[in-house]
Amino acid sequence: MPLNIKKVLVCDAVDKSCVELLEQHGINVTYKLKLPVEELCQEVKSFDAAIVRSDTKITAEVLAAGSGSLKVVGRAGAGVDNIDVPAATAHNVVVLNTPGGNSISACELTCILIGSLARPVVPAGQSMKEGRWDRKLYAGTELYGKTLAVLGLGRIGREVAIRMKTWGMRIIGYDPITTEAEAKAAGIEKMTLEEIWPLADYITVHTPLIPATRNLISTETLAKCKQGVKVVNVARGGIVDEQAVLDGLESGKVAGAAFDVYPEEPPKSAVTKALIAHPKVVATPHLGASTSEAQVRVAVEVAEQFIALNGTSPKYTT
Ligand code: NAD
Ligand code: MLT
Repeated sequence: MPLNIKKVLVCDAVDKSCVELLEQHGINVTYKLKLPVEELCQEVKSFDAAIVRSDTKITAEVLAAGSGSLKVVGRAGAGVDNIDVPAATAHNVVVLNTPGGNSISACELTCILIGSLARPVVPAGQSMKEGRWDRKLYAGTELYGKTLAVLGLGRIGREVAIRMKTWGMRIIGYDPITTEAEAKAAGIEKMTLEEIWPLADYITVHTPLIPATRNLISTETLAKCKQGVKVVNVARGGIVDEQAVLDGLESGKVAGAAFDVYPEEPPKSAVTKALIAHPKVVATPHLGASTSEAQVRVAVEVAEQFIALNGTSPKYTT
């Protein structure tokens, strides 16, 4: 049955192509960005649907406030971590997202971070800005011939594998669902985690954050890794135990780490701050999807799904 979405509240900054497409299909759009929760609870009573990215949390409280009016919450992004899905289901609210729209961007950031752990371009660039010429201090290592472990062989994991393989890395990986044949097609040797730990020079995680993946990289698993392993997390904060990496950096077990995501964003905990400040860490503020191309893609995908829920096919005017 068509949902008859007429009024949409946009809660976080999404590309204008989303608004244009919705309005071309007779859907009225209101922008109210980053509302405090009390105001959001008030506002949702007047809308059929809401669109969020990461900043706005659609909690049980917000969904209860919107009960009777809110029919859909759309996320212009991959996960639905900031939406209380069970509460949405309880209130008959459809939750939709745009998996895939930002995969290439998240993959490319991952590859750049892997590269920046091999060649210290970030501190070297900073030293130049400070007027220094320190060639010895910033020597690096080649990626060629090194082993990259990809944990989570979905959309992003496989794209990372394909790219890093062309740099001459050996790609090994683990995923409980992806088949050996699917992994092989992306140039990945599928293995068990226990086989992976002692082989990896670099580990990059591309799983959702679920109980099975929380602290996938921990003191216990790092102990099974090579001395000097490097770790990258462009997936979700919490998949890598930050304290374990910090301890590993101090002991030399971990030679470098790169993070785009954190258990709390923006980071507030002393552990996350110590990690970000560590000289062997490259940190970015959740930029995986922050490219113009990905933002247009996810914006259009979310609008297309709203239009489809109204029982119509999107039409494009140039
Ligand atoms: P996906 O669903 O395509 O792939 C995830 C893979 O993880 C699946 O193949 C699944 O089988 C696998 N998996 C599940 N449990 C596992 C386990 N215990 N061990 C190993 N693998 C397991 O997801 P995706 O689109 O590739 O996204 C991967 C991650 O990146 C997600 O956490 C997503 O939220 C995140 N992401 C981050 C950014 C960013 O801006 N940093 C952008 C997009 C996506
Ligand atoms: C996602 O879930 O799509 C990414 O983490 C990026 C984002 O939050 O925009």
